[in-house]
Amino acid sequence: MSAPPRPTIPSLGTIELEIDTPRLALRPFTVADVDGIWPYVSDPAFPKHMRWNAHADKAETLAFLQRTIQERSDNVGVTWGIRHEGKLVGAIALENIRWQLAAWRVDRAELGYWLAPALWNKGLATEAAHHVLLFAYDTLGLHKVTVGCFEQNVASRRVIEKLGFRHVGRHEDDVWRDGAWHTHLEYELTASQWSDVSTTMPISRPLRP
Ligand SMILES: CC(C)(COP(=O)(O)OP(=O)(O)OC[C@H]1O[C@@H](n2cnc3c(N)ncnc32)[C@H](O)[C@@H]1OP(=O)(O)O)[C@@H](O)C(=O)NCCC(=O)NCCS
Repeated sequence: MSAPPRPTIPSLGTIELEIDTPRLALRPFTVADVDGIWPYVSDPAFPKHMRWNAHADKAETLAFLQRTIQERSDNVGVTWGIRHEGKLVGAIALENIRWQLAAWRVDRAELGYWLAPALWNKGLATEAAHHVLLFAYDTLGLHKVTVGCFEQNVASRRVIEKLGFRHVGRHEDDVWRDGAWHTHLEYELTASQWSDVSTTMPISRPLRP
C-alpha cells in the first residue's frame, strides 16, 4: 500500500522543476520555445495519435505555451520541453494534477509525451518519462499517475509497458479521429507499485539516482 497523502499540498512555484537525465535536459516550457517546437507541432501528420491538431500558425503555438505556463502557476500541470544535445526535440507533461476531489484526496496526474521522429526508438521517451515519474512520486509526492494511448500506437504502448504501468482498461471505439473510431487503452501506476517496479526493471535501475 502507498504512503498516506502528504499533509501539505506542494506548490509548483516553490519546487525545482528542471530535470537532467543521462541524455536529456527537461525544462519547463517558456514562450521562448515557440520556434523550437514549431517544426513538430505544425506538421499535419505528427499529432495523429494525440488529442490536438497541428498548429496552423505560431500564434497558436504561443497560446499553447502560455497555457502550459498558466497551468504551472495554477498548480495543475507541468509541461517540460525535452532537450537533446542542446536542441528542443519534444515535450513531456504531468497534466490534470489533482490533489482533492470533494472530501477525497486523490493525489494524481496524467502523463503525456511526444518526441521528434528522427530520435524515435533510442529509448529517449522512456528515459524522459522515467525521470518525470521520479519527480512525480519522490518530489511532488503524487500517489498515482495515469496514462492512455490509442491501441494502434505500439511505440507509446511499449514506452508505457517499459515503465511498469498496469493496464486498467480498454475503451472500444472510444474517439473519432481522421475518419475512424480509435480504441483507447488506459494504464495507471501507484507510488508503491512504482517503488517496486522502478528498482527491479532492468531499464530503470541504472537511471535511478
Ligand atoms: C511514443 C513516442 C514518444 C515514443 O518515443 P521513443 O523515444 O521512440 O520511445 P522509446 O525508444 O523509449 O520506446 C519505443 C519502443 O517502441 C518500440 N516500437 C516502435 N515502433 C514499433 C513498432 N512498429 N512495432 C513494435 N514496437 C515498436 C521500440 O522498439 C521501442 O521498444 P524497445 O525499447 O523495447 O525496443 C514517439 O513514438 C512519439 O513521439 N510518437 C508520436 C506522439 C505520440 O504518439 N505520443 C504518445 C501519445 S499517447
